[in-house]
Amino acid sequence: MDRRDFMKAGTAAAMGGLTLTARPNPLRAQPPTADAIRIGLIGCGGRGTGAAVQALSTAQDVQLVAMADAFPDKVEGSLSTLTRERDDWGGRPDVRARVDVPAERRFSGFDAYRQLLPLVDVVILTTPPGFRPIHFEAAVEAGKHVFMEKPVATDAPGVRTVLRAAERAKAKRLNVVVGLQRHYQTVYREWVDRIHAGMIGDVVLGRVYWNSGGVWVREREEGQTEMEYQMRNWYYFNWLCGDHIVEQHVHNLDVANWVFGGHPIRAQGQGGRLVRTGKEHGEIFDHHFVELEYEGDGRVLSQCRHIPDTMSRVSEAFHGTNGTAPRPGLILSKSGKVLFEYDDEGDPDPYQVEHDELFGAIAGGQHEYADAELGATATMTGILGRMATYSGRVIEWDEALASDLSLMPKRFAWDAHPPVMPDAHGYYPVPVPGVTRVL
Ligand SMILES: NC(=O)c1ccc[n+]([C@@H]2O[C@H](COP(=O)([O-])OP(=O)(O)OC[C@H]3O[C@@H](n4cnc5c(N)ncnc54)[C@H](O)[C@@H]3O)[C@@H](O)[C@H]2O)c1
Repeated sequence: MDRRDFMKAGTAAAMGGLTLTARPNPLRAQPPTADAIRIGLIGCGGRGTGAAVQALSTAQDVQLVAMADAFPDKVEGSLSTLTRERDDWGGRPDVRARVDVPAERRFSGFDAYRQLLPLVDVVILTTPPGFRPIHFEAAVEAGKHVFMEKPVATDAPGVRTVLRAAERAKAKRLNVVVGLQRHYQTVYREWVDRIHAGMIGDVVLGRVYWNSGGVWVREREEGQTEMEYQMRNWYYFNWLCGDHIVEQHVHNLDVANWVFGGHPIRAQGQGGRLVRTGKEHGEIFDHHFVELEYEGDGRVLSQCRHIPDTMSRVSEAFHGTNGTAPRPGLILSKSGKVLFEYDDEGDPDPYQVEHDELFGAIAGGQHEYADAELGATATMTGILGRMATYSGRVIEWDEALASDLSLMPKRFAWDAHPPVMPDAHGYYPVPVPGVTRVL
């Protein structure tokens, strides 16, 4: 198969074996070259716009041909960023020249993704994570290669959807890269390889952190329905975000899984909200501490906190029977002698490497990337931790993954009620250990 056939293979399978031969797409105002890899962006916020720049900066002939977002202003905002003349993308190919998204290929609303999918070869999924399972499943069904951001779900049913779709993606030879960029970062690759090779002996303990000051709040605006408000201020609602233990700390939990070579088997922990307690902070906690237990009695202590003016640390450390790996890139013997130290100055940007490798594989007709299962496992590890801190119970991996508790709305519409609603004073119910149902 040549590259073009390879890209079409999944689409053909989704269409019951029909092979697409009619090109170019009649909607295209200025057709890219016949060989261009056509990408579509679903979720045109900060990360989506950045990921589009990275995709358009690869060595391949990539064209952004369609964009979709729940809100039309987000499509327009992202498009204007991508087409603005700027000099701070130094060294990149002219991103603007690779953007061809006329009005008829800009879509908005909850169904926007459906309209975009038939128009592209590769899709970038960068909405809030609650929608990822729906979008990933649809992309795989449509036979598209995928770059999708972490996390890949916010609840166990969503994780299972991603796991099922991951299998189908493999069967269709679709490349899937998940934005857990540490896997595309040389310092982590070199460090974890050496830990796996036994440089610190058997790994017995990990410590993983995402302690920071927190993130943005998007204020409620007059005239917004509750659904629109939550969709805009998505970080603070679990059906959309999963809580920051899932949304951000997933990166560090993923490194723990990577080092231990699998997922935890159970977890227990505690957390709450001390300073981020306003109406605008929805329902999520501002700190979690979780003890994760791995097969063979390995343990990981996980901390994540969103509280300003406290210790900041976003990192991982591992302890073994023969030494320690106190931070990415450093390995010490038991006596403290440096066994390995990696200087990452001048290394490529892992966000760019993700796209360089993905588009290189697609262009080369290779099926090299199948990150969805890894992304789902890391996401589920965060969800397991959240279940432990919200409930205060010991939660088993198997029961967590099998849970049928869906956080998602029954109906997606601007006048629909999201699954969590404010009380008469505008406050949302907050999980209470010992009381809250998590399974
Ligand atoms: N890997 C990383 O380091 C990294 C960094 C930042 C963000 N992210 C991830 O990227 C994702 C997006 O984060 P962001 O910071 O860009 O958020 P954002 O709010 O800037 O953008 C999200 C966009 O998705 C849109 N959207 C929401 N629901 C949608 C739907 N159903 N269909 C289409 N569009 C929809 C929103 O309107 C918004 O424009 C998150 O999963 C986040 O965790 C990853």
